[in-house]
Amino acid sequence: MENELIGLKNNAVSLILEATTPQELEEIRVQFLGRSGTLTFAMKEMAKLPKEQRPEMGVLANEVKAVIEQAIENAKASLRTRHKEKFVSEKLNKIDVTEPGNKPSLGHLHLITQAIEEITTIFERIGFARVRYPEIEWDWYAFAALNFPQNHPARDDWETFFIDQKPDVKKGPVVLTPHTSSGQIREMSSEARSHTAGENINIRMLNIGKCYRRQSDVSHTPMFHQFEGLVVGKDISISHLKGTLDYFVRSYFGEKRISRIRPYHFQFTEPSFEVDVSCGICLGKARLPDGQGCKLCKAGWLEMGGAGMVHPNVLKNTGIDSIKYTGFAFGWGVERVLMMKEGIEIDDLRTLYSNKMEFLEQF
Ligand code: DAH
Repeated sequence: MENELIGLKNNAVSLILEATTPQELEEIRVQFLGRSGTLTFAMKEMAKLPKEQRPEMGVLANEVKAVIEQAIENAKASLRTRHKEKFVSEKLNKIDVTEPGNKPSLGHLHLITQAIEEITTIFERIGFARVRYPEIEWDWYAFAALNFPQNHPARDDWETFFIDQKPDVKKGPVVLTPHTSSGQIREMSSEARSHTAGENINIRMLNIGKCYRRQSDVSHTPMFHQFEGLVVGKDISISHLKGTLDYFVRSYFGEKRISRIRPYHFQFTEPSFEVDVSCGICLGKARLPDGQGCKLCKAGWLEMGGAGMVHPNVLKNTGIDSIKYTGFAFGWGVERVLMMKEGIEIDDLRTLYSNKMEFLEQF
């Protein structure tokens, strides 16, 4: 019996040492220690031994059992470490130094900010200085000094956002500025104040900012951006305005695009114009090469916005001599020119400010 037990132990241990997977170890455990395993069988056989031999054999059998259990545990632990090492070395061997790295995804400027930067650069090249004026403004700057009569519909609270604040005795109610033209008044007033006698007034302003109007539909957002140009000096004429428009249109939309001006009406300019740009799709022809009508434009032209010669009343309101000085101004929507440049119509302009990544990532 003793020899049998020792043989069984040696047999088990050598099998355990050869095992290469946890499954094999489990099979060995069942083979020796399981309910019908060899050791279990030998232990049952012990009952047949003469009484006096039984305790000694019992102790030996328990030792053999403990040795086999311990050997299985040790083998399992070493298999686990070997498995880990193998995993790590496989990973290391797999590193391909020529493989391009993972680029961390970087954000970019919003497409309206990109357009504002481009517009600023174009005008800076011909001497316009970018300025910023308040988005919350008194009626005086937004309307009154711009020659709007008291009963003009733009002053109605269905057009303009009014701030719930006591009106100023001189400057009137407080509003969210509905256009960047308010910057014209601020610019001319400060120029008139700071300019010393004998020196000529010379303004080349580019005011780009947020504007607010009570409007929200597929082609309007309550907040939008405008860029406003203002030039005031001696002998400034319509030809300076037209030259500036042409320069901008060529620089921003491309060499092939031209501008035209149509008579219009604004309170703060006289004469006033609407400015159109030739369509980039049909190049002003209104027809495509295949004879079909162009779907983007109206008869070859796209409407860009307003412009005109500064009204003498506006010059006077800011303290500038309207006999000595003349000026021109223009004010256009950033969102609008951007759409015209890309030759696209965004189905819903509100998407621009919706922070939808699928939309923003395209630009
Ligand atoms: N302020 C006008 C608007 O919001 C646009 C405009 C028209 C600006 C004529 C000008 C101008 O400077 O001369 O619709």
